[in-house]
Amino acid sequence: MALLEVEELSVTFRQRGKRTVRAVDGVSFSVDAGEVVGLVGESGCGKSVTSLAIMGLLPRGAGVTVEGRADLDGTNLLRVDRRTMRDIRGRDVAMIFQDPLSSLNPVVPIGRQVTEVLARHRGLTGDAARREAAELLDRVGIPDPTRRLREYPHQLSGGMRQRALIAIAVACRPRLLIADEPTTALDVTIQAQILELLKDLVRDSGTALIMITHDLGVVAGMCDTVNVLYAGRVVETARRRPLFAEPRHPYTVGLLGSIPRLDSSRGERLSPIPGSVRDVLPWADGCAFAPRCSRRTAACVGEPPALVLTHTERTYRCVNPVAPGEARPGAAAQGPAPATTTAGAATDGSPAGEAATTVPPAPREEESA
Ligand SMILES: Nc1ncnc2c1ncn2[C@@H]1O[C@H](COP(=O)(O)OP(=O)(O)O)[C@@H](O)[C@H]1O
Ligand code: SF4
Ligand SMILES: [Mg+2]
Repeated sequence: MALLEVEELSVTFRQRGKRTVRAVDGVSFSVDAGEVVGLVGESGCGKSVTSLAIMGLLPRGAGVTVEGRADLDGTNLLRVDRRTMRDIRGRDVAMIFQDPLSSLNPVVPIGRQVTEVLARHRGLTGDAARREAAELLDRVGIPDPTRRLREYPHQLSGGMRQRALIAIAVACRPRLLIADEPTTALDVTIQAQILELLKDLVRDSGTALIMITHDLGVVAGMCDTVNVLYAGRVVETARRRPLFAEPRHPYTVGLLGSIPRLDSSRGERLSPIPGSVRDVLPWADGCAFAPRCSRRTAACVGEPPALVLTHTERTYRCVNPVAPGEARPGAAAQGPAPATTTAGAATDGSPAGEAATTVPPAPREEESA
């Protein structure tokens, strides 16, 4: 059984006088113990809201509706009371945010922020807690940890602050760590170090990691399984290698086309996906990616594309997927639209004869007013 099983998670924000936003719309994915799972997609596709829902950090009531399940070892995190969730957070599940400065308390020394967690969740106090805190800082690569324990967040560089935040997150040896764009605010060399550190922590401790990023390049080196999100839904899921080798969803192809490659020829341009994430069709009316997709056909509008499951355990939500071997990253998201094809939702359109079964479409969502 998976450590975390997210099933049909939906989050809706309703604010008086404003448009109802279905930020997450029937998202399902799972995470095994020790596995690194990526949630990837452009800004606004629902990555953070998904993780906040799992962590129980969305406001309850106040126009926010959370539906579905997020079972951690059989406990539905979406339905536990606040107190239980506070215990689970930190002890079983921890989160690292993009901006360490706003996640750390600016008026409390780093050391106390680590020892507080150790006291609360592992019952360590006094010298034992301080020793463990110093060991944790050492483990995340903060030099001179004993001195650093006495310092305040503003005395540390951005990279060191992110390391301190990771130390706090792993202090209780959580079974699941969620990292939401943990390197976006850092410069490139520091980014690589932090990713390396996360990889080491996962390998050494067996902690499962959900890596949230807008950058497929970040998941390239670390994720076992990748879920690509678009407009609140998972549009493709596959193990990392097959996803990079043979992306099937045109949006995944577009994301791959927007990352630099070492093997591209000189002068070859990156191929960003045309349009913006705001150019979406409501899922109720068809494929949300249709306004930006050069592979769209008449079958792409009218109703939401069903989720197709191939025998290689890949799923994608597309009626005219890229055939295996056809994708040159970037090709599907730009250039002239191909002639309309008749590929239907019941097959995966694959010349290689990938057997495909169709999972029934998600229930139609309510209209966004
Ligand atoms: N508190 C909120 N109220 C209304 N809409 C929200 C709220 N939080 C997020 N959203 C909307 O939900 C969508 C997904 O946001 P988010 O999960 O933050 O995206 P990202 O993938 O960039 O992390 C966005 O359209 C965002 O504007
Ligand atoms: S081919 Fe159609 S269903 Fe597939 S991504 Fe493009 S618009 Fe969506
Ligand atoms: Mg986000």
